[in-house]
Amino acid sequence: MSTPNFLRFPDQFTWGTATSAYQIEGAWNEEGRGPSIWDNFAHQPGHVRTGENGDTAADHYHRWAEDVALMSEMGLKAYRFSVAWTRIMPTGTGAVNKAGLDFYDRLVDTLLAKGITPYPTLFHYDLPQPLQDAGGWPKRETAQRFGDYARVVGERLGDRVTRWITHNEPWVTAFLGYFTGEHAPGHRKPQAAFAAAHHLLLSHGYAVQALRASSRQPTQIGIALNLSPTYPASPTSRWDAKAVALTDGWINRLFLDPILKGRYPDDYTTSILWRWMERGLYRSIQGDDLKIISPPLDFVGVNYYTRGVVRYAPLIEAMQIRPSGSEYSEMWEIYPPGLYDLLMRLHKDYGHPNLVVTENGIPVPDRVDADGHVHDPHRIRYLSAHLAQVHRAIAAGVPVTGYFVWSMLDNFEWVHGYTKRFGLVYVDFDTQARIAKDSARWFGQVIRENGLTSV
Ligand code: FCB
Repeated sequence: MSTPNFLRFPDQFTWGTATSAYQIEGAWNEEGRGPSIWDNFAHQPGHVRTGENGDTAADHYHRWAEDVALMSEMGLKAYRFSVAWTRIMPTGTGAVNKAGLDFYDRLVDTLLAKGITPYPTLFHYDLPQPLQDAGGWPKRETAQRFGDYARVVGERLGDRVTRWITHNEPWVTAFLGYFTGEHAPGHRKPQAAFAAAHHLLLSHGYAVQALRASSRQPTQIGIALNLSPTYPASPTSRWDAKAVALTDGWINRLFLDPILKGRYPDDYTTSILWRWMERGLYRSIQGDDLKIISPPLDFVGVNYYTRGVVRYAPLIEAMQIRPSGSEYSEMWEIYPPGLYDLLMRLHKDYGHPNLVVTENGIPVPDRVDADGHVHDPHRIRYLSAHLAQVHRAIAAGVPVTGYFVWSMLDNFEWVHGYTKRFGLVYVDFDTQARIAKDSARWFGQVIRENGLTSV
């Protein structure tokens, strides 16, 4: 029972934190790891605004035991990390690197020994460079190679790992990587981006097959999508409503529909985006692809940071605006009710029985105070407000079973380098010292009490 101010979560609710390999591991060329597109991209000037890269990052490859100890102190029930394909298969295909598999093997064993359920993600943007040289995600073969890689990881860890995530945010991989060029490999080829989207989805299907075949106990497999609830700039404008439908179709339904309904959205053929979709995506579809993409999934992972507000604009048809009067973080508008709206919509339109918030968090310019602590009330407020919306959705009947904070540690935030701190744990990137922030203790208390007092 919840007292009026206390928001109690369901028993067995999964409380976790998330990270990804390139953002925390460092050791970019150690123990047989091959180069990924992010190594190359970040090493070239002009891509990362600060000129930084993930060569050392939070040095987690060497400090993982200390990091797991911090997780244990916090009382985490689960930890979501990503496996670097380039550590397992340095060229993306063929020979397997034993040291890479051993690293994740030790990590998994140590987590399990501390009662923390591992949630490995197989792909978080770091494609092996040789596969990019052969064409990358716009090429169908890359999807097959991903299936092979999933089998190798599944065979090694599938006797102990019972939760898997195939991809993190395939929209970002496809469209920031191959359309806007903001992310590796930095291409600006719209049709290729849509082909990439199809092959990412196909590779998800192959990975599900491979993981099911290699799991040796009841296993739950999901995918983590960046989903953005989208609102019109003017609620009464018919044109803005069109812009909303287009944006929602491109960001959300392009991935949700094939995965959960076995078909692509096809109701936007007049727009330039959807012409690219016809040329880049529909032409990439072969045989049973949509069947392969849509096997039953055990959970749908929802990464939520902000909402989209769009207005109709000639030619491009939809333009993002920054609503005035809103509160903003260093990166995005802060809009907690968007998470409730999103979860409700997923429930209504897709009815999946198991939704997990696989990322939610905020960048704050944290500093170590004179007292040696890192006080981050802003983060605690952000996370509390979002958890209250998750609780509200659960109370309204939406089956949300877990929540992961992005991130466990401060880390390399892609084009922003180390300037955006998302961690519950502060990292001094000069000394690699870790300091649990106030938010880490707060989250530990939420976990212990299985809920929080609403603010
Ligand atoms: C998500 C990414 C993650 C991190 C957060 C802030 O889109 O999955 O790697 O960059 O945003």
